[in-house]
Amino acid sequence: MAQQKKKIEPKTLISEERIQARIRELAAQIDQDYADSDRLICVGVLKGSVFFMVDLLKQLKTPIAVDFFQTSSYGAGTEPGEVRIRKDIDMSIRGKDVLLIEDIVDTGYTLRTILDLLRFRGARSVKLCALLDKETRREVEVPIDYLGFPIEDVFVIGYGLDYDQLYRNLPYIGYLETE
Ligand code: IMP
Repeated sequence: MAQQKKKIEPKTLISEERIQARIRELAAQIDQDYADSDRLICVGVLKGSVFFMVDLLKQLKTPIAVDFFQTSSYGAGTEPGEVRIRKDIDMSIRGKDVLLIEDIVDTGYTLRTILDLLRFRGARSVKLCALLDKETRREVEVPIDYLGFPIEDVFVIGYGLDYDQLYRNLPYIGYLETE
């Protein structure tokens, strides 16, 4: 007989209502800051940022274009903190305003790499919007221009964040309680 897998119910850290309320505040702030912009290029980091990005961008009144990076920070022959670009953006960003959108800033290596690359390519401005910040884990400095919530050093899941590719579709930020 097939072994029954025990379903672990995640605990809520940040509710759906709190996330959506904070997104409305962030969107209002971004609209205000880019009031003169005729095209803001919003760049998401796959896959985790997608849920946050879609909800945030739906609230914006600023004209936007959308693009994506995908990275990986592990694999044979990689050093700790070595980030590989698995999918590059398609658009030219020279002279453009870019808003990078990420689910969570942990050590900071992923965003440091992407921010440096966007600046090297001649973007007029590059700002960062992150839903979550685990500041105590930071190893390289990454200034966050728009932040959803600071959190403690706990492994979180949901609203784009995964554990072994699962839980991304939870509408809230949760964590798994270990026994
Ligand atoms: P960093 O380069 O260490 O800042 O890593 C950022 C990436 O690590 C995020 O985009 C997530 O994919 C992943 N990550 C970091 N902390 C968590 C977590 O608590 N839950 C799920 N993924 C996480």
